[in-house]
Amino acid sequence: MRICWVTDDDDGRSSPPSVVEYGTSPGEYTASATGDHGTYSYSDYKSGAIHHVTIGPLEPATTYYYRCGAGEEEELSLRTPPAKLPVEFVVIGDVGQTEWTAATLSHIGEKDYDVALVAGDLSYADGKQPLWDSFGRLVQPLASARPWMVTEGNHEKAAYNARWRMPREESGSPSSLYYSFDAAGGAAHVVMLGSYAYVEERGEGTAEQRAWLERDLAGVDRRRTPWVVAVAHGPWYSTNGAHQGEGERMRRAMEPLLYDARVDVVFSAHVHAYERFVCMFREMSFGHGRLRIVSETKAIWTWHRNDDQHATVRDVVVLESMAGAKTN
Ligand SMILES: [Fe+2]
Repeated sequence: MRICWVTDDDDGRSSPPSVVEYGTSPGEYTASATGDHGTYSYSDYKSGAIHHVTIGPLEPATTYYYRCGAGEEEELSLRTPPAKLPVEFVVIGDVGQTEWTAATLSHIGEKDYDVALVAGDLSYADGKQPLWDSFGRLVQPLASARPWMVTEGNHEKAAYNARWRMPREESGSPSSLYYSFDAAGGAAHVVMLGSYAYVEERGEGTAEQRAWLERDLAGVDRRRTPWVVAVAHGPWYSTNGAHQGEGERMRRAMEPLLYDARVDVVFSAHVHAYERFVCMFREMSFGHGRLRIVSETKAIWTWHRNDDQHATVRDVVVLESMAGAKTN
């Protein structure tokens, strides 16, 4: 588990040490780990010291209490993910720092979960780098308590690599913009793709990322790993007018790999609207639907696809009556 935090002092030599002390009881730190820190500059902004410390090995499904920087007063706690199913992911993207962000974070915090998947566009700092610092303060209560696994959006700019160090080396990736990890003791494999790797890497990124993805997926044993999840910022399918076609180059390069590997679900962000599709790739979907109106408020839609002469339920949606819904 990697702990990242920022201290105000932008002079690396006088920064508090990159040390995390931790243990399984409050106030009792039986272990410590040392990492490193660095800064980055963007225009006339210079960041504070950004510390990265890897702690562990840790026990699964265990709460650890920790403090960042030797002798610091503030104690935080985190819970490690479980080593077996079930596991629950929170999925968010286009997070920002608005009143909607506050509501979303509050709603996430109201219900337990194990790991957050953040599908890019985090702080919306763009050229205003201090917004990264306010974003860090905003998400800290949640991001300090569970693993937050992020991928890059189009609003991250130079800060992404400096601030978010994801398990690139551990997943054999040549770039910090794409990586993978296992959850629930390998029952789930999560692939975090880089929608902008080709921009960052001057056109070479798509082929390089594709080659890495092919290697990564080839290493997944579906008998041991029944669930494979992929995340990319830019959607490959969207009916929204905004950002049409932006993911097309990546889709053409990588979708066949995901299809052949029988990836179960792909999450994206970027378009600020909620949509879902059943498998779109090479999908000749013959079958039938059933709309079961259960009550005055609830109905259940199921799509029964013809699959080798058998009807298989490939989509289920619970609908609420719109009779009492507000219209804008
Ligand atoms: Fe975006």
